[in-house]
Amino acid sequence: QNERESLFITLNFAKDHFVENLWEVEEGKNIGLTYFKERGFSEETIKSFELGYALDQWQGLMDAAAKNGYNEEFLEKAGLKIVKEDKAYDRFRGRVTFPIHNVTGKVIAFGARTLKSNEKGPKYINSPETELYTKSKILYGIYQAKNEIRNTSNCYLVEGYTDVISLYQAGIKNVVASSGTSLTEDQIKLIKRYSENVTALFDGDKAGIKASMRGIDMMLAGGLNVKAVRFPEGEDPDSYSRQLGGTAFKEYLDDHSQDFMSFKTDFYTSESNDPIKRAESIREIVQSISLIPDPIKRSVYTQQCSNMLGIDEGTLIVELNKLLIKENKSKY
Ligand code: UTP
Ligand code: MN
Ligand code: MN
Ligand code: MN
Ligand code: MN
Repeated sequence: QNERESLFITLNFAKDHFVENLWEVEEGKNIGLTYFKERGFSEETIKSFELGYALDQWQGLMDAAAKNGYNEEFLEKAGLKIVKEDKAYDRFRGRVTFPIHNVTGKVIAFGARTLKSNEKGPKYINSPETELYTKSKILYGIYQAKNEIRNTSNCYLVEGYTDVISLYQAGIKNVVASSGTSLTEDQIKLIKRYSENVTALFDGDKAGIKASMRGIDMMLAGGLNVKAVRFPEGEDPDSYSRQLGGTAFKEYLDDHSQDFMSFKTDFYTSESNDPIKRAESIREIVQSISLIPDPIKRSVYTQQCSNMLGIDEGTLIVELNKLLIKENKSKY
């Protein structure tokens, strides 16, 4: 318990150090702050998310920590320092930093983006799992978003750090990110603490659409009411909100929020009119319906599916019941 407290304090120091680099140190101002401003982030936004900059040095943070009396052991346990054979160095170097907060606003980890467009390594580097940070249990932005999620009874779910930040700046503050990994049960439970309704905004690329199909099923199984929005090919919520501007983007969300059923139907049936493919897509949708825990909602969606796709409801129910038996749920 004492160690956890020391880790929180160490991570908070690192966050302050990166923030100071961004606003006070030439390298940070020239490279990091300029980068954020070119992305369209306002100073207020940059401060709200406590964005920062890790200097392009092997031991920038380690030196600052030592000078301020911090124990090196905690830097390593907090995921900030890498120790390899006889060498030790900072994990985050020459990157802009995005602190990841827990629900009470304490920093538990970082994501850090490269500024080089030709970088061979990964675009983002993230903290490893630590005593404080379990990636599958947290959503990026939850601390800033939680009240607004409760107030609006809706949670926008996006893929990336910058999607959260851009939407927040556009006035859409009920937004969190899964940070590029597939959604987990713990993350769904976290959302449910604040709202039962989720609107998924996935990137408009192949990977994003694939992720959205899986993510939607996970959320349905978790008992959430799920809507989704499609974006034009190549756009993500960050890029598209900047392209349209805040007001038009909000209108786009309102006009294009689709119930999971119509979202999936559009996706599958736009693929092809081939009867075999159509049958497969209907099976996909029935499969999704079978995941919904509430039998009344299942029944409503089965009816809707029958109407939308012009399939006999009785046929759908037979298929649904087969799946429900497999999942040990009560029948239709
Ligand atoms: P994206 O590739 O969509 O990046 O990954 P992005 O958020 O749009 O970032 P920008 O706009 O290029 O700056 C979505 C999320 O997946 C995680 C990050 O959380 C990222 O925000 N990710 C992505 C990583 O952890 N590592 C990577 O190398 C790439
Ligand atoms: Mn993506
Ligand atoms: Mn990508
Ligand atoms: Mn993206
Ligand atoms: Mn992006």
